[in-house]
Order: sequence, then structure tokens, then C-alpha cells
Amino acid sequence: MEKQNDQSRMDRIVSLAKRRGFIFQSSEIYGGLNGFWDYGPLGVALKRNLKDCWWRDMVAGHDELATLSGAPSPYEMAGLDCTIIMHPQVWKCSGHFDLFHDWMIDCRESKRRYRYDHLNGRWAAHRGKKVFVTTDQSGDEAPLSIAAKAQKFFGLRAKQVDEIEWTGDFGSLAAAVAAGTLTLADALGPDAAAPGTLTEPREFNLMFETRIGALAGNDDDRAFLRPETAQGIFVNFKNVVDTSRVRVPFGIGQIGKSFRNEITPRNFTFRSREFEQMEIEFFCKPTDSGEWYRYWRDRRWRWYLDLGLTEGKLQLREHDKDELSHYSVGTADIEYAFPFLAAGEFGELEGIAHRGDFDLRSHMEGKLVRKDGELVVETGDDGKPRHRGSGKDLSYFDDISRERYVPHVIEPSAGADRAVLAFLCDAYHEDEVPDEDGKPRSRTVMKLHPRLAPVKAAILPLVKKDGMPEVAIDLYRALKPHMACQYDEKGSVGRRYARQDEAGTPWCLTIDGQTLTDKTVTLRDRDTLVQTRVAIDEVVSMLRDRLA
Ligand code: GAP
Repeated sequence: MEKQNDQSRMDRIVSLAKRRGFIFQSSEIYGGLNGFWDYGPLGVALKRNLKDCWWRDMVAGHDELATLSGAPSPYEMAGLDCTIIMHPQVWKCSGHFDLFHDWMIDCRESKRRYRYDHLNGRWAAHRGKKVFVTTDQSGDEAPLSIAAKAQKFFGLRAKQVDEIEWTGDFGSLAAAVAAGTLTLADALGPDAAAPGTLTEPREFNLMFETRIGALAGNDDDRAFLRPETAQGIFVNFKNVVDTSRVRVPFGIGQIGKSFRNEITPRNFTFRSREFEQMEIEFFCKPTDSGEWYRYWRDRRWRWYLDLGLTEGKLQLREHDKDELSHYSVGTADIEYAFPFLAAGEFGELEGIAHRGDFDLRSHMEGKLVRKDGELVVETGDDGKPRHRGSGKDLSYFDDISRERYVPHVIEPSAGADRAVLAFLCDAYHEDEVPDEDGKPRSRTVMKLHPRLAPVKAAILPLVKKDGMPEVAIDLYRALKPHMACQYDEKGSVGRRYARQDEAGTPWCLTIDGQTLTDKTVTLRDRDTLVQTRVAIDEVVSMLRDRLA
């Protein structure tokens, strides 16, 4: 069997997330709702800080006069906030209505539903009986799970498991069926007792459907919750160009909720049914698009590193040609080695795609398909467009070069919830620190980058007397307008440090006897544990500088 993944570490992270109010299951008092998550007091601050960093670093704080490192030229950035429900034609032209589906498979015996591409398995035989044992587990859990299932299926005791003969490699059920090496009748479903209970795979569109208006009932009222924020940007391209004086090259950023009716949400918040995206659509001249693609790929990679993700756990993966969407010229994924994955496996945090002119043309002309290497409008049996576009001219006229063209698009598309999960996993550390008597005490500490930390500083009077609380409250009030901080006078100072370490607070300021005489406080650094004395009057400016 392969090396075990870090599931127990993941379990401890999930438990801390719940215990300290980072993330709760949605509607938990009613038993929860699979694939939906709520952010608690610390979690909402962390996620907001993450989104604020993205917005500030990519959109609001962008210096449009400078040529940033790696960029072919200066460029402008604008923001948008579009609706979740859009005109249904948007999804027909974007391709989501026809193509945004997964294959699902049901088990007649267990009544469970699985994503076809998530089922893996291997042939097992014992005393002339042979079966293809499947599992829906991923990573290192998968081989362990099929071994346990085979043992149960053949009715063996633990000491007899070596009698099972395994043949072929552990691999995808769908691939084995496609290769003709088995039929579904030979497959033992992940939760079934007998083979042959899995149904033929069926397509399942991932868009959540709803109805518009009180008299909803016919097909014209059908609408969808957006499965990505990107389309709101494409359909507003002309509005932004006409109203904001931006010139190509420029980007439009948007942060917002997206919804996908995932067949099997899993791995905490990693695959959710409701989640937030942070997307940029960057519009450029077709001849410059290769350079802009490389710029955005590298810029987004750096962003995660600058906010503290461990480089060795991040991977930048260029898609192979056969992985690319039919319209994409190039795509790279930024991936993170989440602890729930097997050693060597990575999960996607963000995709950076070179989308050519596919999106703007689709919304002008109608849904496009690739034919003989060209993108052409897909037509029905009657020769008319299968899904009609808006008919609006979304080309761009460059009044300096006097050229007209449909801009190409580079799309860095990130998930806010996945990024929060990666930062939580990366920040989670267990180590030992000396307690008040100098004895080693084990601690859990969230080493979040100060920009992301939900609370930046805690103000702790050493004791609740001798005027220390009064000085501490004054400092708290001086700091609060500038950053999230907490006043805490409950329990021993060691326990208060421990609480702040678990919350990821980078700095603790302790008011002690010396403060009353020389107006200094101790500043404790969460990661190095170094304590320095700082003049109380300098605390605000010093911490503000550190956060800038
Ligand atoms: N507009 C392109 C687009 O939406 P995507 O790769 O499907 O591309 C972009 O999604 C990002 O959105 C992913 O890299 C991931 O971070 C996030 N994401 C996608 N599906 C998700 C889900 N079910 N749960 C949480 N995040 C998801």
C-alpha cells in the first residue's frame, strides 16, 4: 500500500476550524447541508482579509502608470459587481447550458450517487471468484478502502487478506470500462455488497436552476445561479469601455459567489456547492496575448508566496494540450499540496487561462464550437445558430493605432474558499513553547501572514489591578481604529497567549508593572516568541508600518 496521506493532520485542522470559530457546517443544528459552509467570527475576518488583499493588490491598489515587473506595458484595472442571476442566454452562449456537466452514476443497492470520474478500483480474485472492487475515496485512503471491501466481499478474516490476488493497476473505473477491460456488471460499487448494482453513467448539469417571478411555470422563466463570476464581466465589457475611459490592455476584477451543484462535495470546503471566486478578465491585443498570459501566470504565483504559502507545497502546472478546453490557447493551474491528498498530489487553487477571443465572440455571434481548427457558430439542423448571441458589437477600436479587433482574454480565476483553506492548512503548526515556569508546553499556532490574520494584536494587562487594565484599555482604543485588535484580561497570561496563537494573532502587547513606570509594553512575536519592549506611544505607528 502507498504512503498514508496526512488525514489526521487534516482532521485536527477541521477540528480547530470548528472549535475556534473559523468554519462551521451550514445549518448544523438541523444536521448540516452537504457542500455548504458558514464562516464564524474568525473565519469571516480571515476570508474578508484575503479578499481585501486580492482586491487591493490586483484592482484598487494597482499602479496604472508603472510597468510592473514582467508586464509588457503599463495597464489599467477596473472593478465590477454583477448579479448572481443573469439572462439565461448568457449561459447558452458561454457553453455552460450544453456543456457544464459531470457524469454521475447511481448504485441501485445503496441508493448512493457518485461522480463517475471519482470511482477507482482494481481487480481482486479469491478461490475462483473475481470482482472489480471500486471506491470513491481519494488519495491514500483509496487502496486501503478497496482492500477492506475485498476482504468483506470474499468473507475473509484479517489474517487471510494475503490470499486475495490483485491483478492490474489500481485505476479509474471509467477508463477501464472505456478500454473494454470490464463491464459495469463486474464492478462492486463503493457501498454495495454485490457486484452489478451500478447504473450506466448519466450526464448531470452542475448549474443550480431557479425560476424568475411569481407566475413562474414555463420554460421562459427558467434561470440559473451563476457557476462562475466571469460571464458578468464579459457581458459588461462594452459598458466598462464606454463609461470608464479604460484602454486595452486592461483588466476587470470581480469577487462574488458562484454556485455549482457538485455531485460529490468533499474535502471540507475544497469542493463546495456555494463558494466565492476572485476573477480577472484581462483584455489585450491578440498579438500581445502570449506575453500577458505569462505575466499573469507568474504574477498570481507570486501573490500566494508573498502572502506566506510555503513554496514547496505549491505547484505551477501548465496543462497538456489534451487537457485544454476547446477554446483555450494555454492554461496553467496554481496547485497546493492539501493534507487530505496523497503525498505528491496537489489540488487546484487557481487557473490562469488564455481564452483567446472565445468569450467576447460567443456573446456577439452565438455559442461557438471548434470545427477544423476554427471557432465557428454552432448551428442546429435548420442551419440557424443553436444559441444566438446578443448581436452587439464587442470589438474594440484602438484610436491611436487605428485598428479594430476583438480583444483576447487572459483569465486568472481564483477560489476564495480554496485559498482560505490552503492558508489555514499552511498556517497550522504544532510546536512546543516554554510556559510561565519555563517548562515546555505544546501549542497549536496558526502562522497566518499578518495581512490575513483575523486579529492583528491582542492587548493583555498582566493582572486585573494596579491600573494595568486602564492603560491597556487606552492602548486598545488607540489601536482599534487602525486594525482589528482584542482586549483580553481573562486567565493567566500563558493561557491568553495560547488563545491568540490558535487564532493566528501575530502580536501580543502586555502591560505590566514596568509599563506604569517607563511607559513601555512587551511586544511578543507569535512565530519567534521574541519579546521586546516598545514605547507605548510608538505601538500604533510601529504595527501600522508592519502591516503596510
Ligand atoms: N471562470 C473560470 C472558472 O470558473 P474553474 O477552474 O472552474 O474556472 C476557478 O474555477 C476556481 O474556482 C478554482 O480554481 C477553484 O479555486 C474555485 N472553485 C471551482 N469550483 C469550486 C468548488 N466546487 N468549490 C470551491 N471552489 C471552487
